Amino acid sequence: MYQFKKIIISLIAVCLIAMFSNNCASVEAPNRLRKVLDLQGHRGARGLKPENTWPAFEEAIKYKMVTLELDTVLTKDKRVVIHHDSETNPVICQNADGTEIKKTSLYDLTLAELQTYDCGSKQNPNFPKQIPVPGTKLLSLEEFFEKILVLEKKSKESFEFNIETKFPDDGSAPDSLVKEHTEKLIQIIEKYKVTDRSTIQSFDLRTLTFSKLKNPKLKTSALFVPTYFQGFLMTIGFGNGYRDTIVSAAKEKQADIISPYFLYVTPKFVKNSHDKGLLVIPWTVNNEKEMRRLVSCGVDGIISDYPDLLDSVTRPKP
Ligand code: G3P
Ligand code: CA
Repeated sequence: MYQFKKIIISLIAVCLIAMFSNNCASVEAPNRLRKVLDLQGHRGARGLKPENTWPAFEEAIKYKMVTLELDTVLTKDKRVVIHHDSETNPVICQNADGTEIKKTSLYDLTLAELQTYDCGSKQNPNFPKQIPVPGTKLLSLEEFFEKILVLEKKSKESFEFNIETKFPDDGSAPDSLVKEHTEKLIQIIEKYKVTDRSTIQSFDLRTLTFSKLKNPKLKTSALFVPTYFQGFLMTIGFGNGYRDTIVSAAKEKQADIISPYFLYVTPKFVKNSHDKGLLVIPWTVNNEKEMRRLVSCGVDGIISDYPDLLDSVTRPKP
């Protein structure tokens, strides 16, 4: 019985230590951070407008995001299209006549075929504040930059871009596909002369290697998502192994930025990353408390589905 009590007390102690060691200093987001914090609108502004579409990017701009985050897939006719999954998504897109689309690989569809879809009428059920924009079409990356350049000329503003390469979730993408996608993406970035304000990010770290080989001037960001088991270990205070592993992996790929799942960012993780020359930009942060916690941890940027909230939390107080 005594032994059992001892085990329970030890477990509680470990959890308490874990909770406190994971917390960043509980200070307010200092005003100075607005100037140096890279505010990123996730998929434009997924919480407010249909994801990865022009209305979502306009929304991110409206709320003064520094960077527009977006996802890309290569189509059958080798065009870079802005879309999160390597398959069509019937939850957010439909046929122009309102009928349901079938899940189809983007590698089997041309850009023109994809652009017959209406990806603005259906509200994403996970984002109740999202306002539909009926008739919205998917954009190629080139069309996106054309629109950005027009807008920048008109507004005299300048934006940054965090562009992700997406591949099938089962990890089946061959090196040749990753290389082709990355190189096409870079060709477009170079064509629009936005190299110095673009980052190429991916969970598939081969993208980072191909990117540095093709154009070493382009910044790269290594994305990481923990497995449920790794997440559990971190929750109970045994996550330092995982944190060290991802910092080493990002360094090995010569990444400029490490982009972890936000819940597992600690002050120590930020410091270790900074010591290794990596900026820390966690995803995807959708509540005020977490935004403030991460700012106090010393992160370099925050990626959010809610640019309106990110703007209000980080705006300097008068
Ligand atoms: O920028 C990182 C973040 O976008 C990764 O998650 O799945 O929304 O692309 P996902
Ligand atoms: Ca993304």
